Amino acid sequence: MSRVISIMNQKGGVGKTTTSVNLSSAIATLNKNVILIDLDPQGNATSGLGVDKKTLDRTIFDALTDESTFLSTLLPTPLEGLRISPSNSDLLAAEFHFSTQEQGKLYLKSALSRFFWSTSSHEQPDFVFIDCPPSLGQLTINAILASDAILIPVQCEYYALEGLTEIISSASMIRENFNRCLSLEGILLTMADRRLNLSQQVEEDIRNAYGDKVFESVIYRSVRISEAPSHGLPILLYDPNSSGALSYLNLAKEVIENEKKSAGAWPFRSSC
Ligand SMILES: Nc1ncnc2c1ncn2[C@@H]1O[C@H](COP(=O)(O)OP(=O)(O)OP(=O)(O)O)[C@@H](O)[C@H]1O
Ligand SMILES: [Mg+2]
Repeated sequence: MSRVISIMNQKGGVGKTTTSVNLSSAIATLNKNVILIDLDPQGNATSGLGVDKKTLDRTIFDALTDESTFLSTLLPTPLEGLRISPSNSDLLAAEFHFSTQEQGKLYLKSALSRFFWSTSSHEQPDFVFIDCPPSLGQLTINAILASDAILIPVQCEYYALEGLTEIISSASMIRENFNRCLSLEGILLTMADRRLNLSQQVEEDIRNAYGDKVFESVIYRSVRISEAPSHGLPILLYDPNSSGALSYLNLAKEVIENEKKSAGAWPFRSSC
C-alpha cells in the first residue's frame, strides 16, 4: 500500500517545496520507491529536481484532465527511486476548471486510484508526496482529498503558532466534510535559527501546544539548502555531508517510523 502525504501550508515561502524535494529524496535514498507530485503551477519542485519546466510533454495537469494517465506523466530525477509528476503554468487553468465541475475536488484522487489499480503490487510506490501551492484553493483541496495524511512545514517566526492554529482548523474543516480518514503526519519546524531567541521561543511554544505531533527533526536555516535548487539537485546530492542533508535524512527516518507505527492520528479526534 502506498502512503500519500500532502505537504501543505496556505502561507507562502515556509519551506513546502524545499521539504517536498528533500524529504522525498531522503526517503528514496533509504531504498524506498517514491513519487513526488508537483501540484503548484510555480513548478518549483520540478525545477528543483533538475527538470526543465518549459519543455515538458506532459504534466500533472494532463493526468488531472484525463488527457494522459498519471503513469505517463512520471519523469526520472537525479535519484534512483524517486520519480516526479511535474508541473508548470499550465496548471493555473486547473483552479478555474475544477471549480466549475461537480467532481472537481476529486480529480487527483481519481487519477491516483486508477494508477494504483493498474500498477502491480511490487511496482507500487511506498510513498507519494504532494507539494501544494500556497493557498487553500481547488488544487490543495484535491491534494488533501487524495491523501492519507498532511505534513505541515512551519517557519520559525513570529505569529507561527497563530498561523498553525488556522491551518489545522482549515484542514479540520476539509477533513470533517470530505476525508475523515485524513491524519496529521506531523508539524515540521523549518528555517530555524539557533542564534535567535525568537526561533527557540517559537519552537518551545509549538512543542508545548502540539507535543509529539511535532517532528523531533528541525530544519535549520542553511545557505546550502537554499543553493541546491539552482543546481537542480536535492541537498543530499548537492552537499551530502551538510547538516541540512542530515536533518532531512533524520526526518525521512521519522516519517518511515510513523508509517510502521501507523501513527499520525488527527490531533483532536481519534483516527479513522
Ligand atoms: N532551511 C532553509 N534554509 C535556507 N533557506 C531555505 C530553507 N528552506 C527554504 N529556504 C528558502 O526559502 C524560500 C522559500 O522556500 P520554499 O520555496 O521551499 O517555500 P514554499 O513554502 O514552497 O513557497 P511557496 O509558498 O511559494 O510555494 C526559498 O528561496 C528556499 O530556498
Ligand atoms: Mg512551493
